[in-house]
Amino acid sequence: MDIEEAGTVFTDPRAYADDARFHAATALLRRESPVHLVEHPRFNPFWAITRHEDVMAIARDAETWINAPRPALGPKPKDDVRSDIPIRALVQMDAPDHPVYRHVSADWFKPSGVRRLSGRIEELARRYVDHMAGLGGECDFFADVASHYPLYVILSLLGLPEEDFPRMLKLTQELFGADDEDLARRAGDTGFMDTLLDFFTYFKTLTDDRRANPGDDLASGIANATINGEPIGDLEAVGYYVLIATAGHDTTSAAIAGGLHALLEHPDQWRRLAADPSLVPTAVEEMIRWVSPVKQFMRTATEDTTVRGVPIARGESVLLSYPSANRDEDVFENPGTFDVGRTPNRHMAFGFGAHYCLGTHLARLEGRALFAELVPRVASIELAGTPAYMETLFVGGPKRLPIRYTMA
Ligand code: HEM
Repeated sequence: MDIEEAGTVFTDPRAYADDARFHAATALLRRESPVHLVEHPRFNPFWAITRHEDVMAIARDAETWINAPRPALGPKPKDDVRSDIPIRALVQMDAPDHPVYRHVSADWFKPSGVRRLSGRIEELARRYVDHMAGLGGECDFFADVASHYPLYVILSLLGLPEEDFPRMLKLTQELFGADDEDLARRAGDTGFMDTLLDFFTYFKTLTDDRRANPGDDLASGIANATINGEPIGDLEAVGYYVLIATAGHDTTSAAIAGGLHALLEHPDQWRRLAADPSLVPTAVEEMIRWVSPVKQFMRTATEDTTVRGVPIARGESVLLSYPSANRDEDVFENPGTFDVGRTPNRHMAFGFGAHYCLGTHLARLEGRALFAELVPRVASIELAGTPAYMETLFVGGPKRLPIRYTMA
């Protein structure tokens, strides 16, 4: 593989479904071209940043590097559509708006806010492991467990009714799986717009309802929030729900399913975890590093600057490659080894700086609850077919994980 070919992994959704190809390419880029210009006819040009130190330095400097107008990589039409979409969520915002809007939900996501949900999360974890047991020894762990459980958690946090689950599941998968043929409603960018419109309709109704009948759920908190003394706008409220419903769902599903896949591919690590459940927290952290469910976010330069000596002009964009940063040889000992006891684990899967993932505590709690319930109850477990990974440019993990198991 030459360096130009290596640079194509960021624009090819199939590359994220092929771990070996992706990691070979990004290892080469980290070594030989860590600030790499990618030019592709379907995409506006960008610089791919693959080293941990550089990703962190850019994410930390929110004055030089802003999220608008291109918070994440998509094909050219999506860049244009994005600037037309009136919905602005946190990831599209910068200071001074960003901290004000982030503040609206920040308390809900603090450890104290999330702890209120821990009983419900443990109950859901038990429900899904029971469900697995009831499936009689074989299932698709992604479809049957991992894709549902985090959505239930998010619905609980937002305060939405469980009967809306199938609709939300489909919509979030369409939004994030739009580059995968199995998941996209239709090929092309109009499908993406239709999905957004469905989201809007659903959440606009929710906002109206929570304004009329406020409760103590996060949806009520958002619908009735004030921004600089004024009630939050409808579009901003909807943007908020969409972000939380989507950001909090597919990411955690990917970490859980990809995490189990990693354990099955490394049976010594499964045995180690089964023998010592106190390793669950470090194991979950390692799963998140290993899978790196969020493949990239972008930043755009507000002034002429340099990264690792490479000049980058004002208005040019950089892609922060979290999966690459998380295998950086300069930061991780044996980065290609899956180690359930890895300490320290300075992975960047949750990003860094002003936009650092709001849902880290929730995601960790979910992962820990599930594996703490699952591992002791399983007597034997193995792959029952070939797993498949989502083709994506943004968020992804397994889309099929066939397993065979006996419960203790
Ligand atoms: C393993 C699971 C997860 C991963 C890997 C993940 C990853 C990320 C990343 C990389 C960012 C961008 C950070 C940056 O730009 O520096 C982010 C932002 C965000 N995440 Fe997560 N996330 C996960 C779970 C969740 C959950 C459960 C929620 C809960 C609702 C959530 C809500 C958010 C929100 C609201 C933002 C935007 C924050 C902002 O722009 O200020 N995430 N996440």
